[in-house]
Amino acid sequence: MQNIAVVFGGKSVEHDISIITGVGVLQNLSQGYHGVPIYIDKEGNWWTGEKLCYIENFKDFNTKKLKKCNFCPNDKRLHIYGMRRTAMYIDCVINCLHGQNGEDGSLSGVLQLSGIPETSSGVLGNAVCMDKGITKLLLRSKRVPITRFITININDYNANNSFWIRNIIRRVGLPCIIKPARGGSSIGISVANDIEQLEILLGNVAKYDNEIIIEQYLPQFREINIALFEHDGNLELSSLEEVVGADKIFDFDNKYTTNTKTKRICPANIDASTKDNICKLAKKVYSICKCRGMVRIDFFVIEDKILVNEVNTVPGSMSFYLWKDFGYTFGRVLSKLIIEGKKRFVDDQKHCYKYNSNILDNLSKRDFIINK
Ligand SMILES: Nc1ncnc2c1ncn2[C@@H]1O[C@H](COP(=O)(O)OP(=O)(O)O)[C@@H](O)[C@H]1O
Ligand SMILES: [Mg+2]
Repeated sequence: MQNIAVVFGGKSVEHDISIITGVGVLQNLSQGYHGVPIYIDKEGNWWTGEKLCYIENFKDFNTKKLKKCNFCPNDKRLHIYGMRRTAMYIDCVINCLHGQNGEDGSLSGVLQLSGIPETSSGVLGNAVCMDKGITKLLLRSKRVPITRFITININDYNANNSFWIRNIIRRVGLPCIIKPARGGSSIGISVANDIEQLEILLGNVAKYDNEIIIEQYLPQFREINIALFEHDGNLELSSLEEVVGADKIFDFDNKYTTNTKTKRICPANIDASTKDNICKLAKKVYSICKCRGMVRIDFFVIEDKILVNEVNTVPGSMSFYLWKDFGYTFGRVLSKLIIEGKKRFVDDQKHCYKYNSNILDNLSKRDFIINK
């Protein structure tokens, strides 16, 4: 039996969504895998315990019967702090943290230093894709079609706001859409139609992030998503889904509450050549952004034009629902991700991390004292 730690919750505005992903994963692991829940509460404390596997326990959440836990550097065990301190060897981690402090490479950093295999995109891929500005800069440099955009640091903006407003108008224009660069689930996103609104909304978005991206607002488009992951050296691509019926922007309520007009149509009803182009672009973006494991790439389709919107390295519910037409259950998707994550880990270990030099032999105390 392999111990698979599932990390979810987290210090992120997407905390609650991550609970849905995490519990879904825990309940769908195939035979042979023992799911070990690691729930990070809103303050950043790590907890483990059987009751975290059940969604009803999150309604009036309390820490009764739970134990604090953590990973340590260079140690593949989860340390659990109850009446008695115990430790459990972890074979692989499934990262279910959406948003900051988890999907941004930080959890991958902890796991890399502990020496534990994981299913997500690692430090670099997660960090790149978490930041919409960095992702778009990278994609633009590789001539991947995206919207016009500009990124601003809120402190730079506050130091000279008229300069930045002029820049936004010149490089993006109005109306424009303002997003926290490292946000998710549409939280903090708004549309400005004139300069006055723009100034107010730039003030508001700083609540979520200091890094802000402002994009050209697209009045009409089809929203098409695809998931993909690496398997035996090839990229497997899911069915395409179309998100329809969302108001103006596909916002938090539209995404997650059941009584909305929003529908997800899968497979999306699009022509073969658009589908083919989306698949080609998805593979290119996966490689450019250093993605690993399962990611979902979201596109805007405007007639025959295809634009990449964003790359989600920890997609909601691991995008398992996009694989139904392939006969893959949630459990099968997870098994593939675990096997690949472990393979990648072994592959990374092949590199040489030691180099023998004699550089230290001839150094003395004197070499480090400069001002005496
Ligand atoms: N440039 C744009 N023009 C018009 N609507 C947009 C644009 N960018 C995003 N949206 C809408 O806002 C939603 C959320 O934006 P997105 O960039 O996907 O951020 P998040 O990471 O929060 O999901 C999208 O699903 C889409 O409906
Ligand atoms: Mg999105």
